[in-house]
Amino acid sequence: MNAQVATPVFAFDEIESGTARKVVVRGVAVSVVRIDDDLYAIGDVCTHAEISLSDGEVWCEERQIECPKHGSAFSLLTGEPATFPATQPVPVFEASVLDGQVVVTVGIDDVDDGAATIRPTIGNSGS
Ligand code: FES
Repeated sequence: MNAQVATPVFAFDEIESGTARKVVVRGVAVSVVRIDDDLYAIGDVCTHAEISLSDGEVWCEERQIECPKHGSAFSLLTGEPATFPATQPVPVFEASVLDGQVVVTVGIDDVDDGAATIRPTIGNSGS
């Protein structure tokens, strides 16, 4: 069974352009990034080691966020690392603004053993 879960996380005004903010949506750590009026949401945990990408620097022009530990830069559009040492992508989620609130949508697949896994949703939308 698949489900999309849209969760308001904080007011759009609470995040400055060029910054990232960590939120936890249904147990999933998500890094929400704002660049001007565009929002992005990707998995917060670096795939090289368990480091929060939200603590990294946002590269606005490249639409990337840099892991603060070893410097891999992850695409905010695809979740793919553009630089080593990370080689695996982080998931990408949908982020939007509704009534002034940032809303993050995660897809949840319930698998046979009862454990829930997160299915990335490609794409994002601005304000
Ligand atoms: S922990 Fe992120 S690049 Fe190493």
